[in-house]
Amino acid sequence: MKSILFITLFVFLQLKNCSNSGIVPKDMSPEGRNLISKNGMVVSAHHESSGIGVLILKKGGNAVDAAVATEFALAVCYPEAGNIGGGGFMIYRDPTGMTDLVDYREKAPAKAFRDMYLNKEGEAVPGLSTESHLSSGVPGTVDGMISFHKKYGILPFNEVIQPAIDLAKKGFPVTAGQAEDLNNFKARFIKANRILPAFVKSEQWKKGDTLRQPDLAKTLERIRDAGRDGFYSGETAKMIVKEMERGNGIISEDDLAKYHSVFRKPVSEYYRGYKVISAGPPSGGGIILLQILGMIEPFHLKEMVFHSPESIHLLVEAEKRAFADRAEFLGDPDFTKIPVTALLDRGYLKHRMADFTNNRASESLNICHGNPFMEHGEETTHYSVVDPMGGAVSATTTLNGTFGSGIVVEGAGFLMNNQMDDFSLKPNLPNMYGLVGGKVNSIEGGKRMLSSMTPSIIEKEGKLFLVVGSPGGSTIPTTVLQVITNVIDFGMDIRQAVDTGRFHHQWLPDYIGYEKGSLDSSVIMKLKSMGHTLTVRSSLGRVNAIILLPDGRKMGGADIRGDNSACGY
Ligand code: DON
Repeated sequence: MKSILFITLFVFLQLKNCSNSGIVPKDMSPEGRNLISKNGMVVSAHHESSGIGVLILKKGGNAVDAAVATEFALAVCYPEAGNIGGGGFMIYRDPTGMTDLVDYREKAPAKAFRDMYLNKEGEAVPGLSTESHLSSGVPGTVDGMISFHKKYGILPFNEVIQPAIDLAKKGFPVTAGQAEDLNNFKARFIKANRILPAFVKSEQWKKGDTLRQPDLAKTLERIRDAGRDGFYSGETAKMIVKEMERGNGIISEDDLAKYHSVFRKPVSEYYRGYKVISAGPPSGGGIILLQILGMIEPFHLKEMVFHSPESIHLLVEAEKRAFADRAEFLGDPDFTKIPVTALLDRGYLKHRMADFTNNRASESLNICHGNPFMEHGEETTHYSVVDPMGGAVSATTTLNGTFGSGIVVEGAGFLMNNQMDDFSLKPNLPNMYGLVGGKVNSIEGGKRMLSSMTPSIIEKEGKLFLVVGSPGGSTIPTTVLQVITNVIDFGMDIRQAVDTGRFHHQWLPDYIGYEKGSLDSSVIMKLKSMGHTLTVRSSLGRVNAIILLPDGRKMGGADIRGDNSACGY
């Protein structure tokens, strides 16, 4: 309980207005980290984007309209991860309970090939998959937003995108955290770009300084006026290709013209009677989450003390096994058949835990991926939306690293992703998040790189209950897992469930990373005596969640780890 107390002391509930820029009229909706509201709610990484989402809800938009407005607003007010040069996954649950997912994950350009980041000796060239023009996949966000909006939105698209355009033109005051991010990345921006982007100024950024992005505003206007053609062909596409040519990148006009997002069925399974709906391949997030939940369900987590050695040991052992399967089996389903049903089979998951002992850590090198056929066979951003009709959106979007590749498309004002690093560059070589993989996730032209993004929606007795997701690379599924178990098994309210300390294990490297101050020293000692290795690490995830209270009101859980903000009315 130490970490709950620790967090409670620091959480001070203060309601403010959503938008400082003035794009959202003052007094339109209150903002707070843990707001409760009757009608609609948006929880995202920045108060400007949350405010814009609520503005759209108040205009009569549904959750998809608000989500699309929030996504474009994040591309302006949260350039660390919000984007039009990246991709993501968005799940919609309409008021009748129908669910759908749009996969707007980037694709490898047609000219990409397996060994493209290796030198003659077969070693990965440092920085090539993370900081160069070659590190970008073909962006998916704009097509994803337009397709999803066309299918489910009710307000006209131009109304939904307009607040983001206004925000880019008018500018907004950066938060203290953003000023720090921009200052930390200054050298990288200068190195990566020929013409200095809006993110660089001669003096240091300070809290409250205005960030205006006129080039980005013009790009967003082209998207408003021409839809997908405003990005994937014409002027913007030419600018992207020209930018690529400047730095030996390989994204072509043909790659852009051929890019399409895909509607896929979300993956889902029951956990203690709750239906958990999440993103399947090419994200590994939902499979990892559902595998872990399936592995721990037979155990009585509720009877274990929160953050006790036994509860941490149980989750960690399940995490190791799920991540070992990820490395072997998961990748782009359009290229390889992914054994989703077999991986989620309860008999298989029980078999995976057959060698679990409650007093001894298993060594990761002794845990191989399973054989599901044998039985029978460091910046992303998440936002959650609930509309007054009961529709909900859970969406996670990313450039991969903070500010992506750091390369701003000249004249178009947006950052390109460095998502190619999510491929397995060569077997067993850890990526930016320490994840290893093999053939299924090797590089091929037109393939989507495996993701960990885990936007999720949880139903209780057939009704909307929880909308949740997080950034954090490989730690995303285990972060979402802990919010779910904190609510379902440990009975926390959403604020505690989101804010309390977290830990993570991903099979390889073989250690438990835990947030500073979150575990008692006696717990750490006990886990060590059981054979676990533990390491303090920087904060894990930045959750944005909404829970439905029994009386139908919505309560936001905006993580204290960032500038996250819940707005509602
Ligand atoms: O798709 C993925 O799994 C990664 N590109 C996500 C990166 C991320 O979450 C970084 N955030 N902290």
